[in-house]
Amino acid sequence: MTVRGLAKSVPGGRRLFAGLDLAVTAGELVAIVGESGVGKSTLLNILAGLDGSDAGDVSIEGVALCALDDTQRTRLRRERIGFVFQAFHILPYLTLRQNVALPLALVSADAATIDARADAMLGAVGLGSRGDGYARDLSGGEMQRVAIARALVHRPALILADEPTGNLDPDTAGKVLALFADAVRQGGAAGVVVTHSRTTARIADRVLTLTAEGLVERHDD
Ligand SMILES: Nc1ncnc2c1ncn2[C@@H]1O[C@H](COP(=O)(O)OP(=O)(O)O)[C@@H](O)[C@H]1O
Ligand SMILES: [Mg+2]
Repeated sequence: MTVRGLAKSVPGGRRLFAGLDLAVTAGELVAIVGESGVGKSTLLNILAGLDGSDAGDVSIEGVALCALDDTQRTRLRRERIGFVFQAFHILPYLTLRQNVALPLALVSADAATIDARADAMLGAVGLGSRGDGYARDLSGGEMQRVAIARALVHRPALILADEPTGNLDPDTAGKVLALFADAVRQGGAAGVVVTHSRTTARIADRVLTLTAEGLVERHDD
């Protein structure tokens, strides 16, 4: 994924960032830190094609998002991007297998293939025997593991996570992040994770701080 010259102001006019450049290679995990309100979630939404920028562009596997119409951008997002949210967004009255299979159902694969791939992803996050269980019975850490499996099941080129461990205790957060990092690297996706956690920063290949001038490499610890 490549970002060049990205600029964004909030509707009121305040500038969040400008001239923002970023390149994340396949299998690389980049952590983004920064103060609350600085624009981290806004940046991730732009990377996902959910929000527009005022200038600059995002390319995913060489495809520039700004060159696509809404339908094409939605298709690219479904097929090539995975997203993990702080609030899990797991559906409680579906089984774990059904939750993980959702992205595959959207891109039309046959039922047997969908189930097999969902089960394989559940295995990769340590929930391989739990596919028939209901998501409502899970702990927070388990829910986020299901969310990671769901975000990776369609083998996206880009995986984005917005404070994925914000609702977890530090111990569970560390485990979930290690698993997330492994999944990104093994899946060969470009990974971008927004975090407050120092643990995440240590697991990532690079840590960048978001400021009004763009992303700044951090070298403090
Ligand atoms: N739809 C919106 N309208 C007006 N301001 C917004 C909107 N969305 C976000 N903002 C503002 O943009 C800034 C950046 O928000 P956000 O990207 O959520 O920051 P972060 O994730 O770094 O905490 C905040 O000051 C927020 O108040
Ligand atoms: Mg945010």
